[in-house]
Amino acid sequence: MNSNIYIANWKMNITSKEANSFFNKFLSLHQRSSDRKIIFCPSFTTLATSVQSALFNDSNEIYFGAQNVSDKKSGAHTGEISVSMLKEIGIDYCIVGHSERRAIYSESSEVVNNKIKLLIENKIKPILCIGETLEQRENNNSDEVVLEQLSVCLKEIPTSEIIIAYEPVWAIGTGKNANVSDISAMNTVIKNHMNKLGYIDEQFYILYGGSVNISNLSIIDKASFLSGFLIGGASLEPENFWNIVKR
Ligand code: PGA
Repeated sequence: MNSNIYIANWKMNITSKEANSFFNKFLSLHQRSSDRKIIFCPSFTTLATSVQSALFNDSNEIYFGAQNVSDKKSGAHTGEISVSMLKEIGIDYCIVGHSERRAIYSESSEVVNNKIKLLIENKIKPILCIGETLEQRENNNSDEVVLEQLSVCLKEIPTSEIIIAYEPVWAIGTGKNANVSDISAMNTVIKNHMNKLGYIDEQFYILYGGSVNISNLSIIDKASFLSGFLIGGASLEPENFWNIVKR
């Protein structure tokens, strides 16, 4: 076993009430391990109630993250949530640049770059999602696309701890996962580029996301430079997710 970071990206699923039952069940199954990190990224409304919940008082391996944050500090931005609002509720992580936000909400890498700057200033660790579409992969452009996303998203940002989630867009929610050699090759490209950008190996973690489940986990885990998984669909049910993280 190579990887020990498990991020549950619940997307726009699970209400606060449903989250309570999820966590009651999950924590009844949960047994601590010395080096595992579990990061739940629920909706904003659930985040506000869960982070402060007594349920997590004696857990030292469960963390919370947001799924998004505004690229602006404050002001007239109806519907947005600022980094200081996230800071106030005490979360540790925030996903940025998820392909659903890039594709459905036209979020550019420049906008992601602003979000990362604000997160780092506020000591919230970014979980930066990058990955190519099927068309880009078929045109042999995957490396170029991922390197461009990394360079723009991390432009003029002081190096500090960051999680990079490599998520090929064609693998998200489709039931098709990338194979180990493709993930290893991409992780090597990402690692080398991060080193070139001035990050030392201890400052970044590379995760894989895209249709990860209990059956393909141990195969994907053989990929080089892999520190964990970003899990969508398979994180929505407590027994299922516990079986994944306990291995
Ligand atoms: P999936 O989602 O595991 O359902 O493919 C992963 C993600 O979008 O982060």
